[in-house]
Amino acid sequence: MGISRRDFVGGLASLPVAGVGIRIANASSVEVLRAATGTARLVPGDYPATPIWGFNGKTPGPVIRVRQGERLVRRFVNKLPQPSTIHWHGIRIANAMDGVPELTQPLVPPDSTFEYDFRVPDAGTYWYHPHNRTWEQLARGLYGALVVEEKKPPVVDRDEVLLIDDWRLGNDARLEESFGAMMDWSHGGRLGNWITVNGHGDFRQTVQRHERLRLRLVNVANARIFPLSLTGLEGWIVALDGQPVTQPLPAGRMILAPAQRIDIVVDVVAPSGAEAALHFINGDDTLPIARFKVDGTVRKKKLPAPKPLPANPVPALGDLGKARKTVLRMEGGAMGGMRGAMMGGRMMGMRGLVGQGRVWAFNGLAEMPEKPLLSAALGETVWIEMINDTAWPHAMHLHGFHFRKIGKDKSQGPLRDTLLVDSEETVEIAFVADNPGKWLLHCHMVEHTAGGMATWIQVNA
Ligand code: C2O
Ligand code: CU
Repeated sequence: MGISRRDFVGGLASLPVAGVGIRIANASSVEVLRAATGTARLVPGDYPATPIWGFNGKTPGPVIRVRQGERLVRRFVNKLPQPSTIHWHGIRIANAMDGVPELTQPLVPPDSTFEYDFRVPDAGTYWYHPHNRTWEQLARGLYGALVVEEKKPPVVDRDEVLLIDDWRLGNDARLEESFGAMMDWSHGGRLGNWITVNGHGDFRQTVQRHERLRLRLVNVANARIFPLSLTGLEGWIVALDGQPVTQPLPAGRMILAPAQRIDIVVDVVAPSGAEAALHFINGDDTLPIARFKVDGTVRKKKLPAPKPLPANPVPALGDLGKARKTVLRMEGGAMGGMRGAMMGGRMMGMRGLVGQGRVWAFNGLAEMPEKPLLSAALGETVWIEMINDTAWPHAMHLHGFHFRKIGKDKSQGPLRDTLLVDSEETVEIAFVADNPGKWLLHCHMVEHTAGGMATWIQVNA
């Protein structure tokens, strides 16, 4: 309790006085999010339940729903045998609430608490997960959805979050506890052998023909990239990583990299008696991971095409010619050309790095730098050129901001917080540094994060 109490008080300094009174008055009625051990029936049939770690003892944890602009308060209670934190992925949040150990808050030790209290500026689909030993804690099942509802949500018949995970299970349905395996760390990360949607290996729902569904797809896996497709469902992509797209796009084949979200609005077009499904495209195979049995017809005709969702208050990019520019070179991993990198202030060869579990590097450094990758003035437009000089794709995630991919012709892509950068690809991104603090930039293949692919940027107040 000692540490959390100190942070609790320390965190008050930056809040308006009115908020302080409210928070203290309600201190005992704050909703709790408890990280604890539990079990889940990930595999149906005769298999035993799987021991997991989860928020409120479940995987996924509770779906948290709030309205855009509202305040979200949760007391995090750590009942795990390890220290932890909560990161609210994709929320343009106050820096002190971002959940990054060392950078924005101290670790929350076992049997301690930390109070998260922040406003959610943007509507959309977000999620929460720990940010300590994420390669183990996420793999054990610690995650949940955070849905921020539009002030006027679009009309749909049902609104469903689908958290897609990839577990590595043994024959007894237990987790294989090979979390630190260097083979995974130096390759594509920990890939599993059992896919679940909302913790179910056989996710099923019953729908009606011409029903309109909003499906919020979230990739909560450690490292797996999910190519996805639909059958019996037709519609549009309406948002990426929480942020509405300006023009809804047809929801055909979709790529969902770790931590990314895609919101789709789809109509059930399969006839009554048939089955609609969301599929994981696994090489030449398509594997239905969420099945929708069609029983009856809800209306004679499909609804007309939806309007685009209203944009969130994300500032437009400033003059790119005047942007603060920096380069981020990604190196290392198996089959890469990296010979060594800096660690602990000295140059280390690959063998030494492998011994430390640091097989990746950003700009030649295999650990979090003491100095930020760049330091920006408040409101400045920042431009980062990311060069993937490795044999692997990386899902690059920036905390605290949504950015746009800048094309060679200076075209601006959709707002995202996580972008897949292919092997040997160079990608340029830009965003407005309107949120002061220390913000992490890392690969969201969480074995890569721990293996050296993490840096941070400073935005001055
Ligand atoms: Cu979803 Cu730094 O994480
Ligand atoms: Cu990576």
